[in-house]
Amino acid sequence: MKQVSTIDAIRAEVTGLKSQGKTIAFVPTMGALHKGHLSLIRLAKEKADEVVVSIYVNPEQFGPNEDFGSYPRQMEDDLNACEEEGVALVFTPNDKIMYGSGKKYFRIELDELNAHMDGGSRPGFFEGIVLVVNKFFNIVKPDYAVFGQKDIQQFQILSRMVEEFNHDIEMIAGPIARANDGLALSSRNAYLNDHERKAAPGLYRALKYVEKQIRDGVMEPGLLLKHQQDELEAKGFKNDYLNVFSMENMQPVEKLKSGKKYILAGAAYLGKTRLIDNIILDL
Ligand code: PAJ
Repeated sequence: MKQVSTIDAIRAEVTGLKSQGKTIAFVPTMGALHKGHLSLIRLAKEKADEVVVSIYVNPEQFGPNEDFGSYPRQMEDDLNACEEEGVALVFTPNDKIMYGSGKKYFRIELDELNAHMDGGSRPGFFEGIVLVVNKFFNIVKPDYAVFGQKDIQQFQILSRMVEEFNHDIEMIAGPIARANDGLALSSRNAYLNDHERKAAPGLYRALKYVEKQIRDGVMEPGLLLKHQQDELEAKGFKNDYLNVFSMENMQPVEKLKSGKKYILAGAAYLGKTRLIDNIILDL
């Protein structure tokens, strides 16, 4: 495995692999790798001959009052984990390499797709993600890019970006890796204290409960969702959203129809930790 930090070096390495006829799958991450990330690396290995992982905590996707400063950073452990998974290349740029220091004249704006869910709660979040991933795609030029369903809005937005900006990349989504009690794995789970960690699977349980009711025929789940939010508040969560969204443009939906796909998604705080989770509904 090789670790490279400059754009010239990663380009040269990828070009070298491609000239041997090898296909490349790319797994972008912000590090603090857990079993969810590793499951994506394994999926990437199934798809392509070689896997490229990036580890970069992208400042552009953090709001001024968010956790950029305290986001967990553990480069040595992450490199070991990548090595064990048989990753070929790890790209570890710094801010200067990714963004330089001069004035920037271009931004990518999003229409509608980031109005709700995490986009609604975190202004600038998806603009920052789209910016960095667009750059990564131009730098690495992979054949495949693998992302987690955990961040379903991210996957949907980036899939549209690939389509509208004509990146020659196949987007692949990996399932949500969970702890035994159902909590979706996340680098941010490291912030939870013991008490919060015990309460944390409540978000997934609320989603599972609503999913069951919908599958049993509740097609207007508004009251049900409100009730689950109250239950979560009683368990110590501070709700951000809990709702059903359309799959294609992630707008909230009040009345569900069979034959359609939806995202049942929730975000809530436990103390300072923001948890997100979702279930795809294929009705
Ligand atoms: P990060 O939060 O490190 O996540 C990297 C990838 O791992 C994302 O595609 C995310 O959806 C996936 N992932 C996270 N938790 C998962 C879980 N429990 N099961 C399966 N996959 C999981 O997402 C980002 O970084 C950044 O926004 C990035 C795309 C790297 C751009 O900066």
